[in-house]
Order: sequence, then structure tokens, then C-alpha cells
Amino acid sequence: MKVTVVGAGNVGSTCANVLAHNEIANEVVLLDIKEGVAEGKALDMWETSPINLYDSRVIGSTKDYAKTANSEVVVITSGLPRKPGMSRDDLIATNAKIVKSVTDQVIAHSPEAKIIIVSNPLDVMTYQAYLSAKVDSSRVFGMAGILDTARYRSFLALELNVSPKDIQAVLMGGHGDTMVPLPRYTTVGGIPVTEMISEEKLNAIVDRTKSGGGEIVKLLGTSAWYAPGAAAAQMVEAIVRDQRRVFPVCAWLTGEYGMKDIYLGVPVILGKNGIEKIIELDLNESEKTMLEESATAVRSVLGVLDGMNV
Ligand code: NAI
Ligand code: 2OP
Repeated sequence: MKVTVVGAGNVGSTCANVLAHNEIANEVVLLDIKEGVAEGKALDMWETSPINLYDSRVIGSTKDYAKTANSEVVVITSGLPRKPGMSRDDLIATNAKIVKSVTDQVIAHSPEAKIIIVSNPLDVMTYQAYLSAKVDSSRVFGMAGILDTARYRSFLALELNVSPKDIQAVLMGGHGDTMVPLPRYTTVGGIPVTEMISEEKLNAIVDRTKSGGGEIVKLLGTSAWYAPGAAAAQMVEAIVRDQRRVFPVCAWLTGEYGMKDIYLGVPVILGKNGIEKIIELDLNESEKTMLEESATAVRSVLGVLDGMNV
């Protein structure tokens, strides 16, 4: 069973490495447009197989989509990352063209693939891929919620000095500053987080989560890759092993949460068919308001994309 990762940059190569290392696919194809880069990284990864003891084949490709044929899942990470001072939305013009051309070629060679978008601005690039792929929305979705929730959970683990394994949380909305972490759905070993931490400290962690991507950009001069790559690989694993994991995923809404015609982060069940079900939480008034504000922010960028006629 084959999984393709398009874009052999920071996020794509990290994702491919996790997929191979954890034997999530028998064959991992890494594709890029830069001559030799995907082949070089794939070879370097394959040379770790005797050390890390795995037998997933890692294959690199420069622009040759024939090598990606009949992939079960394709992860699209191709596109520019953020530089300091840039928002995710600044990337729209360049990345929409890249995502469109990549999706066209992906679907031509792997018509049955589930497609996971990582390129930013995430919610809008996922919509672009959906427009280009022309397949059911259960097969085209975006990675952001697992990353944003992981940041939230990791910050809570530090503050509470507990294992991050024991922190469960839900986060909704767009992949931007308006994302909506949900303390009411956050537990520590089954205990509501609000019983473990003061409101002031929890609010500070929520704020840090919202600007978590920017915090890394300031430090590195480019955006994160270890956590994003691992998050995308976790989604692939849920699909190829039909795990029916419950994750926040950027999904196409058709009336859920009173919204339609928008890609937005919501909790879903992820299995062999892609999005098996969107879970509708019984949000309170203030949570609903925050989700609607986040949807408004995403819609404004969707409007920019519509105006561009990609
Ligand atoms: P990067 O610059 O390290 O890698 C991007 C790669 O895409 C480059 O190797 C480039 O040659 C390749 N590429 C460009 N056009 C292509 C095409 N037409 N076909 C195939 N490959 C092509 O960037 P990085 O850090 O890997 O980030 C990739 C994207 O993911 C960015 O848009 C970034 O903003 C986004 N991102 C999204 C996250 C999320 O949570 N959804 C988290 C982190 C990054
Ligand atoms: C992140 O959140 C930039 O979307 C990227 O790290």
C-alpha cells in the first residue's frame, strides 16, 4: 500500500520520515519540483532503515507523478511557508496555484486517493484542492487541528507538570488566530482541566496556542515542521489502518454547526474512507460565537481566493 507526500521540504520530508519509520505504509513516495531533492531525501531516509529497523520503501521523485500512481493517501505540503511578519493568508496567491496544479496531477494518477492538505492558508487551500479534485468532500480534508491541539496539550502538560499523553482536548475553527480551543472539552486523565488550573493561567495557554505557529516563525525565521509532519502522519495512519480516530480536522461543512459551503476545523471520525462522520458538539453560546467569528475570518480569505480565478 502506497502513500505519497508532495513537497519534500521541511514538513513533507518530516511526514515521510515518520510514515516510513513507523511502517505506516509499505511504500512512501516523496515528490518535489526541485531537481534531485526528493530523491536525495528519500535515499537518506532509506539508509536509516537498517538503523531504525523498518522495511517501508521510500522513493523520491522529481515531478514524475507516475511513481505516485494508485496511492491510497496523498499528503500535499507543497507551497511557500511563512516568513517573519507574514500571516498564513499572505501565502494565498502562490500556494493556490501550486495546490491546484498538484491536486490535478495527484487525482489523475490516484483517482481513489484520500487527500490531506497541509499547505497554507490551510482552510482555503483545502477548499482549492476540493474544487480541483472534484471528488466527495469525505476524501479531501486538511491538517491543522491535530497540530493546534497538540500545541495546546503540550503547553498544558508543561504548566501542570504531567504527561502530555494524559491531556485530551478539542479545538475547532480555522487554522489562524481565530481558532477556538475549548477548555470545556479539555481533560487531564479524565478530570476537567478547569479543576486543575486557574482561569487566568488557562486563558494564557489558550492565547499562546492561538499564536503558537507565529511563536515558532519568530524563533526560526520559517514555520514549524516536526509537529506538523507528525500530525499529518497521524492522520495517514488513522486512514490506512482504519482506526476511526477522533481528531479535529478541516472538513467541508454541509449544515453542521449551522454552516455550509465552508472548510472549517471540526471534530471528525477518521477511517478508511477518510472522514467517516463529522461530530456535532453541543456548543454553548460563547463557544458558538467564537466559532462563527472564526468562520467569518475563513470566509473572508475564501472570498480572496474566489476573486483570484485560479
Ligand atoms: P518548505 O519550503 O520547506 O517546503 C515546501 C516544498 O514544496 C519545497 O521543497 C518546494 O520545492 C515544494 N514545491 C513547491 N511547489 C511545488 C510543486 N508545484 N510541486 C511539488 N513541490 C513543490 O515549506 P514547509 O515548511 O515544508 O511548509 C510547506 C507548507 O505547509 C507551507 O505552505 C506552510 O505554510 C504549510 N504549513 C502548514 C501547517 C498546518 O498546520 N497546516 C503547519 C506547517 C506548515
Ligand atoms: C503553523 O501553525 C505555519 O501553519 C503553520 O506552524
